[in-house]
Amino acid sequence: MNILVTGGAGFIGSHIVDKYLALGHSVTIVDNLSTGKKENINPDAKFIEMDIKDESISKVFEDGKFDLLSHQAAQMDVRVSVNDPKFDAQNNIIGSLNLYENCREYKVKKIIFASSGGTVYGEQNEFPCDETHPTNPVSPYGIGKLTNEYYLYYYKQVYGIDYVALRYGNVFGPRQNPNGEAGVIAIFANRFINNVQPIINGDGLITRDYIFISDVVEANVRSIEDEVNGIYNVTTGIETNVNHIFQVLKDKTSSTLEETHGPAKKGEQRRSVCSFEKFKTKHNWFPKVSFIDGIDKTVDFFKKSNG
Ligand SMILES: NC(=O)c1ccc[n+]([C@@H]2O[C@H](COP(=O)([O-])OP(=O)(O)OC[C@H]3O[C@@H](n4cnc5c(N)ncnc54)[C@H](O)[C@@H]3O)[C@@H](O)[C@H]2O)c1
Repeated sequence: MNILVTGGAGFIGSHIVDKYLALGHSVTIVDNLSTGKKENINPDAKFIEMDIKDESISKVFEDGKFDLLSHQAAQMDVRVSVNDPKFDAQNNIIGSLNLYENCREYKVKKIIFASSGGTVYGEQNEFPCDETHPTNPVSPYGIGKLTNEYYLYYYKQVYGIDYVALRYGNVFGPRQNPNGEAGVIAIFANRFINNVQPIINGDGLITRDYIFISDVVEANVRSIEDEVNGIYNVTTGIETNVNHIFQVLKDKTSSTLEETHGPAKKGEQRRSVCSFEKFKTKHNWFPKVSFIDGIDKTVDFFKKSNG
């Protein structure tokens, strides 16, 4: 299959690219390298350094004759979206529309979209929540992800383009950026390894649903199949708080650094955990890597990349 992966130089996108190539697909990457890295780019993919907002992306679609768009590129930081909602919407809504319009024009059959289980529901009233839970996002980032889902529904109804929106939990694993604001496991792992104090924002009792990268990749592999359509949580159904992450990483790295708290970040959702029953029941996808095994693999990666 001929596949365009946007964001293929980023954390999640690059792992998806590796797997699609290993399965024998032909892969083109579009990435503007804003947070992605050249060293993540698989040399067997065709790489085009371009912004998804760029109008000349139509040429990429014309030449590529893609069967499938895997849309992973995004401004992925909730706090950036809060500080600059217009920047977030330009990339995550207008940029996406630029791609979807080209999918329509150049007859792309299916779109797989990286949505967000951690933000589209907003403050939950069920734990874990399934895909029928009300969607009340409390960040511009979450609004953007949900807006994409509505557009994908529109393109399916009006133009017949199939889609899968994968509502990822908090994804972690090798290649996640340890220097950003998002991705607490990567940030803390890297700090422990370098003996730099990790700071827990607030009381550390904020919870998220952490899922290891290989399970997310597998969800993206399943989503290529014709019978997989619609919206799915790609999550573990397990809630983990930041204090626990601190302790697990401290133990794993045999660190002597003590738990240290800073001020809480304003407007952060308290709890997030989502059920994966729908994906499991319909298509037998379920997470296979335990939190602790994922932590082991992640710490090993950061130890190696720190030399
Ligand atoms: N990491 C998570 O926990 C998580 C959770 C839910 C959803 N997601 C979504 O998964 C996708 C991948 O996230 P990630 O964690 O790998 O982040 P990432 O920052 O590592 O990857 C995003 C990639 O998109 C590229 N990019 C950003 N804006 C672009 C633009 N305008 N044009 C072209 N390329 C652009 C970046 O350079 C980067 O390579 C994103 O859509 C994100 O919103 C991530």
